[in-house]
Amino acid sequence: MLDHFPLSANEFDGPVLVTGAGGCIGSWVLTLLTHAGVPVSAFDLKADTRRPSLLMSETDLKKVHWYEGDIADTAAVKAAVQHSGARAIIHLAALQVPFCRANPVAGALVNVVGTVNVFEAAKEAGIQRLSYASSVAAYGALENGGAMATLYGAYKYCNEQTAKVYSEENGLHSVGIRPGVVYGVARDQGMTSKTTVAMLAAAADQAYDIPFSGHVSWLFAAEAASAFTRSVAKVRVGAPVFDLNGVYASVEEGVAILKKCAPHARIGIKGEPLAFPMDKSDEPLRAFIGDYGQMPLDQGIASTYQTFVELLKTQRISAASLV
Ligand SMILES: NC(=O)c1ccc[n+]([C@@H]2O[C@H](COP(=O)([O-])OP(=O)(O)OC[C@H]3O[C@@H](n4cnc5c(N)ncnc54)[C@H](O)[C@@H]3O)[C@@H](O)[C@H]2O)c1
Repeated sequence: MLDHFPLSANEFDGPVLVTGAGGCIGSWVLTLLTHAGVPVSAFDLKADTRRPSLLMSETDLKKVHWYEGDIADTAAVKAAVQHSGARAIIHLAALQVPFCRANPVAGALVNVVGTVNVFEAAKEAGIQRLSYASSVAAYGALENGGAMATLYGAYKYCNEQTAKVYSEENGLHSVGIRPGVVYGVARDQGMTSKTTVAMLAAAADQAYDIPFSGHVSWLFAAEAASAFTRSVAKVRVGAPVFDLNGVYASVEEGVAILKKCAPHARIGIKGEPLAFPMDKSDEPLRAFIGDYGQMPLDQGIASTYQTFVELLKTQRISAASLV
């Protein structure tokens, strides 16, 4: 399946530091980079390899050096960037919508101050390759952006503005990426994770209702990871921000595909469509960074379902804790 997302170590001039590496997209970024033979360091609150170990071999996991720290701690971020000898940073650490809603101050510290810390550390270390995760939720911070307003989206939009200033004032360039709804193995938190939860429920033969309906973005987690890695596979100029949507299809279509893999699955759909734009084009990003691979929806769902079946069988994952 990684063949869909080719990457060559020759494109990198040194180690890549991944923040939020223990999360969903981070785990896939670690997987793609180690698979290609690129030296990788990870920064996260804890060296928690629970998600990466669902995807990576023990041998590849051991190649990753972990830095434990809070992204809101300026000194810890600078130390990790210095000690890792990073030549590129992929910044993914963040708190998602429900966490920002529940604790706005923690959300701002992690999502806003944390991002400034990454830019400051990159500036100090002379790093020229930097990509970071914004979100489709940033549209909620724009007048007539077509998205519900959330603190999470406001923080992400603030980061995009921060990136522009660093590019103009400091020559620290970056690529901002606004993912839509990521699905795949290791996607287990955040309000949009429920399409993946449905795949796990089907694999575990549990009944589950996806709490939203209508058309959504279906962005395979490895495809998202590939876009972030390709963004730092070369020095870029400016601070452009791109949408990353994947496949635009209804929740109903996704469930129909899932039921082809698991004909007896008891998956329902309840609730209103999500109030985020889900039909954004990936073409501007592809034109800017080059081809980063693509996963057709039927193959992405089948592969995720099948991997969940195997992980459940070998007791490497539990449906009880997630569904
Ligand atoms: N998954 C999606 O559908 C989606 C959509 C749009 C944007 N994004 C963005 O992409 C990025 C990665 O998303 P994900 O799904 O992998 O998220 P995730 O929630 O799975 O992982 C986030 C990681 O950040 C780490 N983190 C949280 N607080 C931290 C702190 N104070 N210091 C250090 N690390 C901390 C967490 O421990 C976790 O490992 C995030 O910035 C997210 O906002 C994700």
